[in-house]
Parts: sequence; C-alpha cells; structure tokens
Amino acid sequence: MKIAIIGAGNVGAMVASRVIDSGLADVVLVDVVPGMAKGKALDISDARPIFSSRSGITGTDNFADIKGSDIVVITAGLARKPGMSREDLLKKNTEIIKEVSIQVKKYCPSSIIIVVTNPLDVMTYFVMKTTGFNPKKVIGMAGVLDTARFINALWERNQDIDRDKVLMMGSHGDTMVPVNRSENISSEVFSETSELARNRGAEIVKHLGTGSAYFAPSASVFAMLKAIVKNEKSAMCASAYLEGQYGEKDIYIGVPVVLGSLGIEKIIEIELTKEEKQAFKKSALQIREGITTIML
Ligand code: NAI
Ligand code: 2OP
Repeated sequence: MKIAIIGAGNVGAMVASRVIDSGLADVVLVDVVPGMAKGKALDISDARPIFSSRSGITGTDNFADIKGSDIVVITAGLARKPGMSREDLLKKNTEIIKEVSIQVKKYCPSSIIIVVTNPLDVMTYFVMKTTGFNPKKVIGMAGVLDTARFINALWERNQDIDRDKVLMMGSHGDTMVPVNRSENISSEVFSETSELARNRGAEIVKHLGTGSAYFAPSASVFAMLKAIVKNEKSAMCASAYLEGQYGEKDIYIGVPVVLGSLGIEKIIEIELTKEEKQAFKKSALQIREGITTIML
C-alpha cells in the first residue's frame, strides 16, 4: 500500500511520520520547495529502526513520483498571512489545489483522496469536481479533529461521557454543529465545551504566532488512513458529498460516515433536533458561499 502526501509542511510531515512510525504503509512525500520533502523523508526514515518499522518513505518535488499511490493526502496550501483577506487566501489555495488535483488525476486515477487544505469543505468539493473522481473516494478531514477537540474539552471538565454520543458536524469553521446524545452533559457544559472546540484552531494559532495546529490534525488524518488501509469500516465524522442526505445536495459538509477500503462506504443519517437542523442549514449556506466564489 502506497500513500502520497502532498505538502511536506507541518501537517504533511507529521502525517508521514505517523504512517511510517506505525508501519501502516509506504509513503511518498511531495513539496514544491526543492529539497524539503527529501530532507524530511530522510529524517523520518531514520526513526524506522526505533519503531521496528519496515515501511519505506521517499521525498520529492516531482509529482511523477506519486504514480500508482492508493491513497493521496492533500495538505498543500498557504496559511493566512498578515494583510491577506479570506478571499485572497481562498483564491491562492484554489490555484494550488487545482494544480495538485490535475497531477493526482494524471498519476493516481484510481486513488482515494483525503483533503486537509482549508477552507476544508470548499477545497474538498473543488478536488472532487476537478478530478471528476467518484465522490465516495474524495473525503475531507475535519470532523475527526473537531469531534476530538469537543471530547477533549469534556474530558478536561472530568465529564463522564460515552464518546460515541458526541460529535461535530457541519463545516470546519465558525458554523460547525455540535451534537450531543449523552444524557449526562448539562446544557451549560455542552455550550461551553462545544464553543471551546469551535475556537480551538484559532486559540492554537494565537499562541503559536505563525502556523496552525498539526499534532491533532495529523492524528485525525492517520485515523482516517488506518480505517481505509485496514478496511475497518469504522464510523467517524468527515466532510462528505451529499446527494439529498440531511436535506442537502451537491455540497461537501461534515457528517458521520463509515470509512473502509472503498472510501466513504456509507453516510450515516442521524435524526437531528430542530435547532441542529437549523444550525446545519446555516453551515451549509456558508460553505455554498465559498463554493460559489471559487466556481465563478
Ligand atoms: P504548512 O505551510 O506547514 O505546509 C503547507 C505546505 O504545502 C508547504 O510546505 C508548501 O511548500 C506546500 N505547497 C504549497 N503549494 C504546493 C504545491 N503546489 N504542491 C505541493 N506542495 C505545495 O501548512 P500546514 O500547517 O501543514 O497546513 C496545511 C493546510 O492544512 C493549510 O491549508 C491548513 O489551513 C490546513 N489545515 C487543515 C486542518 C483541518 O482540520 N482540515 C487542520 C490543520 C491544518
Ligand atoms: C485547525 O482547526 C487550522 O483548520 C485548522 O486547527
């Protein structure tokens, strides 16, 4: 099994390290910056004896080297810089993702793609449209991360929860939709912890000064990769293409799915409350605005 990771920055390199350390699969790490992917791949490969892993890793700036990869993780993109508007960032990342999608289609036409680049739901939609791949094989990573942040916030309050009963749906942004089916969480704790989870990415960016979170994001990508490689058929939240589910069509948005060797094997439709339905609709509207901007 070969996994191509596009973008050898913080998230990409850390995903590569997790895959190699665990021996999950072979990796080819790609970045446009000459030498960057090569240097990081050599470093990651030196840890193999420590973890007794025989998985192989190469680093390159040549897209032809991803040929034949079974899964492609797209982390290439820019982070917002001072003075750069959201629209400027959207435009720039769309250009990068277009270029990457063309290469993935050319060299890995049968692959499953996991998109990480922000704005997540819009970029995942764009990858699916640009490659023309079956939507079940193009998946956005956000729900695993946002749900983990939500559970972590509950754990930090010593909340005794059934972790399968809380999740984050909707967009990977300000309008994400917390869902709680656990009876022992009070409404105060629910709103406090879900708010914390919603703002966690920005909180981390503020502390770091430059760059954004990558430890929990790379762990989230790893969980998705493992589910696909090992055909676990496990349930988790991810940005998926809806064709009528949850009352939405032709959009990528965070929902619970079953992941296995075919990609998204099922979209799980849970019953939402009236408030959750409204919040989900609002989230979908926000994603559609982004989609409209880039598809013009
Ligand atoms: P980073 O800046 O550390 O790495 C991005 C890498 O992409 C850079 O090394 C850059 O040279 C490379 N790159 C740019 N254009 C490329 C191209 N055409 N081909 C190959 N490589 C190219 O950024 P980081 O922290 O790794 O984040 C990557 C993306 O993931 C960002 O858009 C970030 O906002 C997003 N992100 C999304 C999360 C989610 O939950 N979906 C969580 C964390 C980050
Ligand atoms: C996060 O939520 C930046 O999307 C990234 O940390």
